[in-house]
Amino acid sequence: MRFMLAAIAALALAACGQSAPSGSTETPNTTNESSSAPAAPSADDAQSQAAVAALPAPYNAANYQAGRTVFAQCRSCHTITNGGANMVGPNLHGVIDRPIASLQNFNYSPPVHGAHFNWDPEHLDQWISNPQAMLPGTRMGFAGVRDATQRRDVIAYIMVESTR
Ligand code: HEC
Repeated sequence: MRFMLAAIAALALAACGQSAPSGSTETPNTTNESSSAPAAPSADDAQSQAAVAALPAPYNAANYQAGRTVFAQCRSCHTITNGGANMVGPNLHGVIDRPIASLQNFNYSPPVHGAHFNWDPEHLDQWISNPQAMLPGTRMGFAGVRDATQRRDVIAYIMVESTR
């Protein structure tokens, strides 16, 4: 019986490992952080989830890891790190509050170049729902993220990552 209780306690600890303060966990799996399994929680992820929790609603309810998974679709065309290269699409570091089409070293399409607003979560939500519907003729060849929860998660991910 004591053994059973100990096992249950261990399971409960494992289940909430991600949100537990880092000092109290005893996860041996802290080697080789991000390069191994992308979904494995790490100290960095706990920090990132805390950054998400500090965002304004509704983004404070987002799931950082789920957002990162959705962002994998963007990553084939975009970097988000500071100083990251332009690829098929422009670098997205600092994109929040950035005027649209403002990178000097990226060749935007005429409809994107001719638009005038700063990127905020609402514009991003509209954009990634369906870029062609928002700015017809854009060169961003991306069908869109249909699921509103996935959009919330990926926008929260962008809000955290683009300011790092
Ligand atoms: C197939 C490549 C591709 C994918 C996938 C893609 N994009 Fe883009 N993105 C582009 C291109 C190309 C542009 C420039 C569009 C233009 O000039 O018409 C762009 C532009 C943008 C811009 C405007 C940036 C600026 O400087 O004004 C944002 C924001 C953006 N993409 C976000 C995303 C997000 C978020 C995702 C994933 C949900 C994504 N993109 C997926 C190719 C892509």
